[in-house]
Amino acid sequence: MIELRHLEKKYENATPLQDVNAVIRDGDVISVIGPSGTGKSTLIRCINMLERPTGGQILLDGEDITAPKYDLTKARRRMGMVFQSFNLFGHLTVIENLMLAPMDILKKSKQEAYDTGVALLRRVGLAGRELQYPEQLSGGQKQRVAIARTLAMDPDVILLDEPTSALDPTMVGEVQAVIRDLAKSGKTMLIVTHEMSFARAISNRVFYMDEGGIYEDGTPEQVFDHPRKELTRRFIRRLKVLELLIDSRDFDFIGAGTQIDLYCLQNDIPPKEKYRIRLVIEELVQQILLAAFAEPDVRVTVEYAPDAQTAVIFADYTGDRFDPRDSDNELSLSVLTGVTETIDFKYDDSQKQNHVEIRLK
Ligand SMILES: Nc1ncnc2c1ncn2[C@@H]1O[C@H](COP(=O)(O)OP(=O)(O)O)[C@@H](O)[C@H]1O
Ligand SMILES: [Mg+2]
Repeated sequence: MIELRHLEKKYENATPLQDVNAVIRDGDVISVIGPSGTGKSTLIRCINMLERPTGGQILLDGEDITAPKYDLTKARRRMGMVFQSFNLFGHLTVIENLMLAPMDILKKSKQEAYDTGVALLRRVGLAGRELQYPEQLSGGQKQRVAIARTLAMDPDVILLDEPTSALDPTMVGEVQAVIRDLAKSGKTMLIVTHEMSFARAISNRVFYMDEGGIYEDGTPEQVFDHPRKELTRRFIRRLKVLELLIDSRDFDFIGAGTQIDLYCLQNDIPPKEKYRIRLVIEELVQQILLAAFAEPDVRVTVEYAPDAQTAVIFADYTGDRFDPRDSDNELSLSVLTGVTETIDFKYDDSQKQNHVEIRLK
């Protein structure tokens, strides 16, 4: 059990942790979410004392690990850390990466460290990769090695700081699968993540961090579906909605495609639906609206309703009345009608505001 009591971390120009209080029970799998800069990494790094808190206490099974005389190697043996950027040793083979700390710190024999390493590689789906170097592996494979390396120390607690956010979207799944397997094994885990559906699937608790502390603490259902407090509500809503502002003819549609991929990943939107969302935005905005307006000012909002498993796409733009269904681009219109259930259009004369609402099939 880990108890955080009035934990504080002050930097010269920021105090990300003002007063953090929490009890983390054995076996808890906690997703830590919140806007950027709210101290999620700082919290994780303070818990295993990679950063020394400036105030408060951390009790590990009742023992205060922040006490000046406490032997930190004891706490660090019990807590493993997985970073966004893998942090593997590039000059060592995969198996050497896994053997190093168990031999150095746990004083395991070479044979024992090797055997454990081989078994762990198999567990993360990388049997046979022992003698490769990290640079020969993909990002997803590197992160799985990093997780195996953490497991080689047999920690009681695993802290993961955005373990999939440096990965190409195609590799997120394989790393999530390994983490999901760990979560099921009963290890205590804290994981900073932006992927809501993943957080929901693996954790029994969610910490929403804001305003210098754990602003809301609850089950995934509570925090994601019925947030109690205003800032949580706003954050969750923003996660569920994707907004694109197309305010120039040079708008970066390729970059927007990446944003759409990420949004779909975070919300567990199936590939087929993702493809349709991209198609609608391409045809509606790039082909039809950009042809109609010399100076575009279009706000696109995508909302996905997991229950109904459908996406709704809104496009709002100021200017003269222009109903996209009246476009003479018949090709784009036929593509649009092919993937959509309904296309509705409204125009507000007084505000000169066009509003399009598209429901996907
Ligand atoms: N080593 C550091 N030195 C100074 N300021 C830092 C340091 N690490 C983090 N901060 C500041 O603390 C705040 C929280 O950072 P961080 O914990 O990385 O947030 P998050 O992980 O939620 O994005 C930020 O304002 C950041 O600039
Ligand atoms: Mg961070």
